[in-house]
Amino acid sequence: MNPVGAYTEMAKKTIADVDVRGKKVLMRCDFNVPLDDECNITSDDRIVKALPTIRSILDRGGALILMSHLGRPKGQRDDKLSLAPVAKRLSELLGQDVVFSEDCIGPKTKAKAQALKNGDCMLLENLRFYKEETIKDKAAKEDAQLRQAKDDFAQQLADMADVYVDDAFGTAHRDNASMYTVPTVMEGKPRVIGFLIEKELKFLGQILSEPDRPFVAILGGAKVSDKIGVIENLVSKVDRIIIGGAMAYTFLKGRGKNIGNSLCENDFIDKALALLDQAAEADCEVVLPVDHRVVRELKPHAPHRVAVGDVDPGWQAVDIGPLAVKAFTDKIAGAKTVVWNGPMGVFEMPPFDEGTKEVALAVAKATDDGAGTIIGGGDSASAVKKLGLESKITHISTGGGASLEFLEGKKFKCLAILDEEE
Ligand code: 3PG
Repeated sequence: MNPVGAYTEMAKKTIADVDVRGKKVLMRCDFNVPLDDECNITSDDRIVKALPTIRSILDRGGALILMSHLGRPKGQRDDKLSLAPVAKRLSELLGQDVVFSEDCIGPKTKAKAQALKNGDCMLLENLRFYKEETIKDKAAKEDAQLRQAKDDFAQQLADMADVYVDDAFGTAHRDNASMYTVPTVMEGKPRVIGFLIEKELKFLGQILSEPDRPFVAILGGAKVSDKIGVIENLVSKVDRIIIGGAMAYTFLKGRGKNIGNSLCENDFIDKALALLDQAAEADCEVVLPVDHRVVRELKPHAPHRVAVGDVDPGWQAVDIGPLAVKAFTDKIAGAKTVVWNGPMGVFEMPPFDEGTKEVALAVAKATDDGAGTIIGGGDSASAVKKLGLESKITHISTGGGASLEFLEGKKFKCLAILDEEE
């Protein structure tokens, strides 16, 4: 079975399959990069990861029009969310000028696109400065005016190009106009994926369809409600699920433990217990923390102690304890496939990042020992990068929400409509 095909119905054509010489190529990237208060890019990871596709198009004589969102400006221009810093960084990385268009549509933008020569590169301003970009397809189906607005916006983008490329894995779970409506209206022209999406689908698809065993999933983060779909999909696929982070306390309360003031989603306790039953039926071991680092008040360097078993009233768990670290790392050792999404504690507040760090080291060690290791985007990816362990992980996804939805087994409709290999 083709692992890419398994999760997107069919293997997709990539930009390598398209002769781009002399063509205008419209490429959707995910340049939703983190910025500091002065609008400096604090991680250019998503720009760097788009470079193989960008270079392939420019080197083969295509004229490239890049588009992306940045943040959630809600249909209003917001200078703090301008993509101008991305154009600057991209120019540096490419070693060539990147034209920046201060609008993403309109006559001026169209003229700039027309003026592009083979090998030229232009970045459009933030797509989400237009509310049309994020009109949901369901809403557009039910409301003719919304549909018209979304279609018109998409048509203006589409009219600038001969070829559509989607390399925005981080946004692949969205039906934004640039992700779904643009390729829809470009039917008849080449509509393909870029190398980043190809790589993401290969690793994530392969891991779910053909994992080497034992296959261990590590899940963390605050809310069990965010991970229900992932757990439901994974219990029948993995041999073991390790659960840390605040979400563990919904399970532990369900199992009758005292959890003090630890975060808990009371409305999801029944669901959590049902997931544990489902796991038992599927012969999937679930590992929960047996001890916890606890504080009375959540603040940096708050006085803390370790609670074994129950958490006393007035105390809140903020990280897994040393026994849990030992148990989790022992359970990771020997795995042949590991997928990890979500931190083990309040990772952004040292010293409550200890559990997450230890798990990151254990995952890196598993890679050294021959396992295939995958990190979903978001906080676990930041943890691994912060520890300088990036090179020790088989694949770090650029998608937070997207990789989570992928692990839930969802299909991405914006990818489904793109060209398939014959
Ligand atoms: C992300 O950072 O996860 C993607 O860029 C998607 O962003 P969004 O959640 O604002 O659509």
